[in-house]
Amino acid sequence: VKFANAELDERRKELEEQTAELTKVNADKDKFFSIVAHDLRGPFQPLLGLSEFLAETAHNALPEDIQTMSDSIHRSAKNVYNLLENLLQWSRLQRGRIEHRPVRLNLMQVVELNVDLLTVNAMNKKVVLTNEVDSEVFVHADRNMLDTVIRNLISNALKFTPSGGKVSISTKTTDLESGSPLIEVSVADTGIGMNEEDVKKLFKIEVHHTTRGTQDERGSGLGLIICQEMVEKNGGRIWIESEEEKGTVVKFTVPLG
Ligand SMILES: Nc1ncnc2c1ncn2[C@@H]1O[C@H](COP(=O)(O)OP(=O)(O)OP(=O)(O)O)[C@@H](O)[C@H]1O
Ligand SMILES: [Mg+2]
Repeated sequence: VKFANAELDERRKELEEQTAELTKVNADKDKFFSIVAHDLRGPFQPLLGLSEFLAETAHNALPEDIQTMSDSIHRSAKNVYNLLENLLQWSRLQRGRIEHRPVRLNLMQVVELNVDLLTVNAMNKKVVLTNEVDSEVFVHADRNMLDTVIRNLISNALKFTPSGGKVSISTKTTDLESGSPLIEVSVADTGIGMNEEDVKKLFKIEVHHTTRGTQDERGSGLGLIICQEMVEKNGGRIWIESEEEKGTVVKFTVPLG
């Protein structure tokens, strides 16, 4: 009887956990739909307004003006598309529709590929971008997810760092959290930073905090949320240390390979 009771208790606990989980998933879904509806409308406004204006005035506008307007339309379209892409990716992650296949990866190489990809951005902005990851560091993670995380974090660092600044990626081995060795990756910048209040708004889908970069770059405001989802799928966590006008360090952990 004692044994049966213990088993019943266990079952009940499992059911309670599942109910809590389902309630949370449902609440997340509600939040998701409300932000999709609201946030997709925003970037459509300039797109609709500008294209309407162009359509009405193109017949007797100067070529330079047509050029300027079509550039703006293109930029707006890219913003809408980026937001949509990120929303879809987040939704797929939520529903477990993105494959997660962890393998042993050389971290320095993954970082290097992304540094190569973003060097043009860094050069345009006159920001020095350096990969300080040791070539001997191996991690256990899904390649695409790790790639997305690193790319997003470097993009952010570049976006919020004015000319003359620095962005660097480095690592250290951390204590044995929960018994398994982790690598702590830092993406540090000497940019505009954030105050404590803004830092608290991050990683929350229901807050959806986004600001323009130092060259007025716009974003979807979903980059970090996607990063968090992916870091956690890989078995790590992500957090931010930032100081206004000093810079930001985004840190995340990933299991050692
Ligand atoms: N390195 C950083 N320095 C200062 N502020 C940052 C930094 N990284 C993120 N932020 C702040 O957090 C917000 C959310 O970042 P997140 O990456 O989630 O979205 P985003 O960059 O606005 O959009 P997207 O990632 O789609 O381009 C940014 O808009 C910015 O306000
Ligand atoms: Mg971003």
